[in-house]
Amino acid sequence: MPVRTSSYKINKLFLDRWSPRAMSGEAISDEQLMTLFEAARWAPSSYNNQPWRFVYATKSSPYWQTFFDLMVPFNQSWTKNAAVLVVILSRKKFEYNNEPALTHSFDTGSAWMSLALQSSLMGLVAHGMEGFDYDKAHKIVQASDDYVVEAMCAIGKPGRVQDLPEDLQKKEEISDRRPLKEIAFAGVLKGK
Ligand SMILES: Cc1cc2nc3c(=O)[nH]c(=O)nc-3n(C[C@H](O)[C@H](O)[C@H](O)COP(=O)(O)O)c2cc1C
Repeated sequence: MPVRTSSYKINKLFLDRWSPRAMSGEAISDEQLMTLFEAARWAPSSYNNQPWRFVYATKSSPYWQTFFDLMVPFNQSWTKNAAVLVVILSRKKFEYNNEPALTHSFDTGSAWMSLALQSSLMGLVAHGMEGFDYDKAHKIVQASDDYVVEAMCAIGKPGRVQDLPEDLQKKEEISDRRPLKEIAFAGVLKGK
């Protein structure tokens, strides 16, 4: 596997995190799972509103099959070896005044990234997903209209690439990123 390199010196945790699909099928402990949510808990948010919510199904729980059935077949083909499936939601309004919270999705994205980085630091896989039925997910976690489903993620212990379906083995690669000059601009946004 090629090692990622950065143009400027950053902590290796940013480069080491990636989204493998190979997972072993083993369970993770409650302690490990709660440690991931703990990391997410400390994310920043507008007015410290903390709009993120994580609804999870461990493989041995009665919730697993309903969560599993939300996903498109492509995602089911590799998440069958995950230990936990998580539906990530955010609350659309501030709790203190019930006014729209413009950054609720942005805030929840920060919390997801904290979870993902903590997973990587613990040698676990956390893989984000948008390939699932959002409306159904909203329904099965019994969320009110105050909440929007943002994404799902699959969490588990790393597995062997050769145990993935063949098409996925080829995709099991560390991705690169656009150069800095395409994402950071002085004063005026450039590009398409
Ligand atoms: C919100 C979100 C949704 C994603 N949806 C899917 C998905 O449905 N299926 C999948 O296999 N990967 C999915 N990914 C993984 C991305 O493809 C992956 O994060 C991206 O290619 C960058 O690679 P890296 O995470 O290994 O750095 C998703 C990632 C995020 C953050």
